[in-house]
Amino acid sequence: MSDDHKAADKLWGGRFSEPTDAFVERFTASVGFDQRLYHHDIQGSIAHARMLAKVGVLAEAERDSIIEGLEAVRQDIEAGRFQWSVSLEDVHMNIEAALTERIGVTGKKLHTGRSRNDQIATDIRLYLRDEIDTIAAELNRLQEGLVELAEQEADTIMPGFTHLQSAQPVTFGHHMLAWYEMLDRDYGRLMDCRGRMNRMPLGAAALAGTSYPIDREYTAQLLGFDAPTANSLDSVSDRDFAIEFLSFASLLLTHLSRFSEELVLWTSAQFSFVDLPDRFCTGSSIMPQKKNPDVPELVRGKTGRVYGHLMSLLTLMKGQPLAYNKDNQEDKEPVFDVVDTVKGCLKAYADMMPSVGVNRNRTRSAARQGFATATDLADYLVRKGLAFRDAHEVVGQAVAHADENQCDLEDLGLDELQQFCADIGEDVYQVLTLDGSVQARNHIGGTAPEQVRGAVAQAREALARRRGTTTQD
Ligand code: ARG
Repeated sequence: MSDDHKAADKLWGGRFSEPTDAFVERFTASVGFDQRLYHHDIQGSIAHARMLAKVGVLAEAERDSIIEGLEAVRQDIEAGRFQWSVSLEDVHMNIEAALTERIGVTGKKLHTGRSRNDQIATDIRLYLRDEIDTIAAELNRLQEGLVELAEQEADTIMPGFTHLQSAQPVTFGHHMLAWYEMLDRDYGRLMDCRGRMNRMPLGAAALAGTSYPIDREYTAQLLGFDAPTANSLDSVSDRDFAIEFLSFASLLLTHLSRFSEELVLWTSAQFSFVDLPDRFCTGSSIMPQKKNPDVPELVRGKTGRVYGHLMSLLTLMKGQPLAYNKDNQEDKEPVFDVVDTVKGCLKAYADMMPSVGVNRNRTRSAARQGFATATDLADYLVRKGLAFRDAHEVVGQAVAHADENQCDLEDLGLDELQQFCADIGEDVYQVLTLDGSVQARNHIGGTAPEQVRGAVAQAREALARRRGTTTQD
């Protein structure tokens, strides 16, 4: 980065009589981070130039020279030949100055009917729209991994927990589909955010619009926006879309953090429900036996920075009067960091999911601990004519008895069980088994293997529709 441009070089320098203080120049510059928007800045400028030519503000030859110049600047940037300058403040003025240097006076016409205020509002939307599409694809890839695992483990029994105490047996597939549902809501929120964001601010200029005969519909169409924004003041000051994106990201990370917490528990020697492949883990420099679940731990840890960025952006916006304020420059680093964090977390999870190994014997034996079929026994007694509260009491006594004898409910003999309720018959043992328990919960949203397979098929269809294909072909 160089800062060799003089005060006279400032694109806004006309009314100034002394150069910017050297520190202030660095303090107010954004080029150190907003150069990341170069591609979308050029994309927006090309569309703006085409629109200006369409309405007769630029000659066709001027338009062509501007477009050619901008493409050349893009190549310079991509080849690492571009000299970014702090004294040119931001990505917009760096590119515009380079354009003028390249094509001469015509370059100075690009900014006709435009301001950096509507320019940045457009750039960041274009940038975020592309990133949203990448993130949506990664999210769907992770969902696919969960669906695969759900199908593979549709019959696998594991303990279901409430209060992290053994509650009722569930199938491992059902648990994976709970994660799938959480992510599916995240996907929906992301698409909602994209839809509301996809409006084109160019034409708002500094804040009030412009006196040139612009065609905003045309620019919107060129840039793939659904429509131009409706109010020029709102166009340059609105950062709701960034807050919505960070809200989406915060909830997504809440979910990934919860998955992470479970994986960290499940990979411990005490649980041993799952194995993560070695390539997603690290060891300890002192304890030779260690294999640490670093990826889930780090994803859980990264949740904090995403929440922090959401708070930054909410706070950034809360006191601003209309319309644009320089405060808005502070929106970029949080957005960029959240984009990077979300992409990293999703990639790690989507890559890892297909190689998660499930220890079926272990999850089954864990499900046998803690009287997980006690509710099934109560439901059985209800079918025999008891009121549920009375059945609950009877089963509570049977559990206390089994606990004293250090055995499970299904280990109690029929005569022992009949001491608690004479209506209990030989058929009780079917409901006391783990498989009987999960198979009995065979309704929409239930844990029965049949339901898991049905939900897997539906999820596959939904994901295939998103990819624009069908499962039939
Ligand atoms: N770097 C600025 C930002 O990120 C671009 C817009 C500057 N506009 C202005 N009037 N100073 O918001």
